[in-house]
Amino acid sequence: MLKKILCTLAMPAALTFAYAVPARSEVPPPPVNQNIGIPDGVFNNLVEANCRACHEDTTVVKPETIPNRHHLLVGKTIPDPTAAPTGTPGASYECLSCHQMVWDDTTYTYSFVSFRDCLLCHQQLAGQASVHHLTAKALADDCKACHGPIDNPGDGHYIPTYEPSLVTPQVNLGTGTNGEGGCAFCHDAGLDSASGINVYNNADTHHSTGLVYLGKCTLCHDVHAADDARIRQCENCHGVNSLHNIQVDSDANGIDPGTEAAYYGHIGNQDDCWGCHGFTAAAAPYSGPVIPDISGVSASTVTAGFDTQLTISGAAFTNLVQGPTGPIEITSTISLTAADGSATVLTPDSITESTIVVTIPATLAAGNYALNAVKVKSVSNSVHLAVMPEVKITSASCTNGVVSITGKGFSQYINASGSGTSVSLPDAVANCTVLSWTDTTIDAQCGECDPAINVDSVYGEAYGAVSIRRAIIKKPARR
Ligand code: HEC
Ligand code: HEC
Ligand code: HEC
Ligand code: HEC
Ligand code: HEC
Ligand code: HEC
Ligand code: HEC
Ligand code: HEC
Repeated sequence: MLKKILCTLAMPAALTFAYAVPARSEVPPPPVNQNIGIPDGVFNNLVEANCRACHEDTTVVKPETIPNRHHLLVGKTIPDPTAAPTGTPGASYECLSCHQMVWDDTTYTYSFVSFRDCLLCHQQLAGQASVHHLTAKALADDCKACHGPIDNPGDGHYIPTYEPSLVTPQVNLGTGTNGEGGCAFCHDAGLDSASGINVYNNADTHHSTGLVYLGKCTLCHDVHAADDARIRQCENCHGVNSLHNIQVDSDANGIDPGTEAAYYGHIGNQDDCWGCHGFTAAAAPYSGPVIPDISGVSASTVTAGFDTQLTISGAAFTNLVQGPTGPIEITSTISLTAADGSATVLTPDSITESTIVVTIPATLAAGNYALNAVKVKSVSNSVHLAVMPEVKITSASCTNGVVSITGKGFSQYINASGSGTSVSLPDAVANCTVLSWTDTTIDAQCGECDPAINVDSVYGEAYGAVSIRRAIIKKPARR
């Protein structure tokens, strides 16, 4: 995921993008190529522009995603802890849970407290812990929620218990002539000239998350383990199964383990086996569905109620395995996980190693979804998809200048200029005065009755025709 980010994080404000051609290489390593996964860097001293660089990376997400995915939380329950400045855990998000208003004595109006700087609400410990690793998911050791090629500690995946031997990988360099037999033979600090990414060493990439400051040393280190068994603690997250399923297509010819160029992954070539084990063999046990990686999506916001076709780009959406009767191609499906954990599985309209075309069905409810490519048991990184409610006026009528509107997707109203919520006549200069506002009905005093009306809600705008009712003149009550 997000491989294209050119991390010049020595100067965090200058985090920029480069669209690397997949499978460009720094061979031989170190440093290792930066085609898949999060750049092997340090991210705990970020400013707003860095957050936007990833969260508005137009190959993966679109800029409107940030307002949309916050606004899809309106009406949902506030967690504990929460980033909402005035939100009470247990209550529901309202506009004012996030947007604070202050009275301006000079203009006699309310205006909004700044709400653009991510770090005003989301916490990092500068130089120590990054935003993501202070989230509830990371603190609960659910690394897989965001990192594709990782097992979660304690999920019951296989970790060998037999005695370590010559072929057991080492945590740092191995005993081979050039350091083969350990992770750092390939994954070590240096400049990846193909992508321009400054790669950090494994101690720095792991410690800079902040997990180290939270006293989580034993997740990754067992101080009592013999030197040659230290890798077993790393296998808490880097299990045999996931390690043997990390591979990039080296020749734009599909992923075919054993026949790829060396150093594009873990199982492409005998030299890759040698890099970790200092030993060669034919096929790695448990190798099968190579873990897919999503690097781009054609749209990250769709409207509920309409079929929308998305094009997803990335790597390892398909791969070959050597079955008992010859090569078998394994393919991915698309899974959408809603905030409540329920998943919708979609069959692609078409699929290649690097592209999936899939239709998001009209029936999918509005909300935030995590989108993953799933190949048998291998799950890609998560990419966010916002399904926005449709904003629609179904009917409107006007009496005495008061317009009554029914429809859907109106959400909530804030009475302030620039709140993004208003009712107006098509050519009017001023907005109508809102009398009442719910998700489905609005009453507003517009002063006159026009044949059309415009509603601006946090989910978008809608226009509708107005049926004008003759004014009802009340007879004065008889005394
Ligand atoms: C290197 C890329 C990158 C950078 C830089 C980055 N993010 Fe993220 N962020 C991600 C990815 C990937 C996810 C997981 C997928 C998703 O939810 O979109 C994520 C998820 C999140 C989440 C959701 C957490 C949860 O509990 O699910 C929050 C909040 C967030 N980021 C805030 C920020 C803020 C604030 C900054 C700046 C300090 C920032 N991010 C910088 C890539 C990045
Ligand atoms: C969970 C927090 C949260 C809630 C709840 C929330 N907002 Fe926002 N809103 C934000 C953030 C953060 C931004 C800034 C996004 C950005 O800078 O890209 C924003 C931006 C906006 C904008 C500017 C639009 C834009 O594209 O930048 C408007 C208008 C707005 N909010 C109105 C509302 C209204 C009206 C409600 C209630 C229906 C509401 N917000 C509820 C967090 C929230
Ligand atoms: C005004 C406060 C505020 C600001 C500013 C803000 N956020 Fe948030 N954000 C929240 C709240 C509140 C939540 C919901 C989680 C919570 O309650 O802790 C949230 C949730 C998120 C999520 C996860 C949404 C989901 O459920 O899928 C992401 C991603 C995110 N923020 C990124 C950003 C980024 C990037 C910025 C800056 C461009 C930003 N936020 C600015 C308050 C804010
Ligand atoms: C909410 C999403 C999220 C969760 C959960 C999460 N991470 Fe991350 N992780 C990220 C993002 C985004 C980055 C890059 C920016 C940063 O470091 O904040 C990252 C970076 C990293 C890096 C450095 C990048 C690299 O390729 O070396 C390591 C190591 C890491 N995380 C480990 C973990 C571990 C261990 C856990 C579980 C205890 C975990 N993460 C949970 C989102 C997440
Ligand atoms: C023979 C060289 C080699 C060795 C040795 C090696 N790797 Fe890798 N590894 C790679 C390559 C190449 C990639 C793909 C990187 C890319 O293109 O982004 C990779 C990717 C990964 C990834 C995917 C996510 C990411 O950050 O890129 C993880 C996790 C990983 N390796 C863990 C390990 C661990 C743990 C060890 C030691 C047990 C290890 N590797 C040893 C070559 C190697
Ligand atoms: C998320 C995983 C992770 C956590 C948590 C973690 N480490 Fe590490 N640590 C690593 C990795 C990976 C390396 C590099 C391989 C090696 O040398 O073991 C490393 C290296 C080290 C080293 C070798 C010297 C160096 O810095 O290069 C020491 C000492 C160390 N860690 C101590 C700690 C202590 C003490 C804690 C807790 C306060 C801790 N680590 C928490 C992953 C982690
Ligand atoms: C608690 C989970 C966890 C443990 C335990 C763990 N790692 Fe990692 N490791 C990660 C995550 C998450 C990533 C980043 C994957 C990505 O880029 O999305 C990572 C990435 C890596 C990579 C690829 C290069 C990079 O920085 O992205 C190497 C090599 C690696 N780890 C080595 C180790 C070693 C050696 C140990 C044991 C000392 C260890 N890890 C323990 C979670 C863990
Ligand atoms: C990224 C590092 C890495 C690469 C590359 C790698 N392996 Fe492994 N492999 C491991 C680790 C870690 C273990 C578990 C070792 C332990 O805990 O004793 C393992 C275990 C094994 C085992 C024992 C499995 C069992 O049931 O316990 C075999 C056999 C094996 N690997 C073969 C291969 C072959 C063949 C290749 C090349 C196609 C390969 N490996 C590539 C890291 C790697």
